[in-house]
Amino acid sequence: MTERTPLISGNWKMHHNHFEAIQVTQKLHYRLGEHDYSKVGVSIHPPFTDIRSVQTVIGADRMKILLGAQNCHAEEKGAFTGEVSAPMLAKLEVSLVIVGHSERRQLFGETDEVVNAKVKAVLAAGMTPILCCGETLEEREAGEAETKVATQVRAGLDGVAADAVASMVIAYEPIWAIGTGRTATSEDAQAMCATVRSVVGETAGAAAADGVRIQYGGSVKPGNIAELMGQADIDGALVGGASLDPDDFASICSYQD
Ligand code: PGA
Repeated sequence: MTERTPLISGNWKMHHNHFEAIQVTQKLHYRLGEHDYSKVGVSIHPPFTDIRSVQTVIGADRMKILLGAQNCHAEEKGAFTGEVSAPMLAKLEVSLVIVGHSERRQLFGETDEVVNAKVKAVLAAGMTPILCCGETLEEREAGEAETKVATQVRAGLDGVAADAVASMVIAYEPIWAIGTGRTATSEDAQAMCATVRSVVGETAGAAAADGVRIQYGGSVKPGNIAELMGQADIDGALVGGASLDPDDFASICSYQD
């Protein structure tokens, strides 16, 4: 089995203007050291308006923090008022892009087809997609969680080459756990992440299933990260609320200490 380097990603959502973003990035950098980066990858996903500023501070201080984005458009360019393309992000040294977050799906009507097109656009621009999936509370209570997540993963990876799938990140985020303070139990999170891995195996083969990194997301905090990360199929976390504070996010990133 491949040794998968854990990846902890901070999804800032619509928080922090570019001044605040610079401060938070610098504070996070001071709190993390070589010793952390040797064990874990750390990415931050600020709003679009912050990305250029954050890129500059990361570059100036040679920080090991990876720069990420929260979304992009599937087309390279064109008449899409208000949108940002994957090549534009790649040019700003963005290396990871969150695709198909449940808020994008629920509030902005992103379908599985759109999400699949965005996954391909991110890969074509030389970046890594973090493909999100997850069930609602109703779906979980109806016993449909696995079917829902399997459908999203199959659709999201449709037509993506196996070696590209192996390089990707998939975030399992039960919608009922996002921003609610209610985390999935580590057993449930593990079971769902194992389902995601087996769906990847069915669609892209054993090597892709072995290589793909699977994050858990949904109310991850300094107090629950270690137990979640102790699960065999959980290779990282996608952190919302707790990533806004550099102290909290740094302690999540150094969960192995
Ligand atoms: P949360 O958000 O950590 O605030 O629950 C997670 C996410 O939406 O990625």
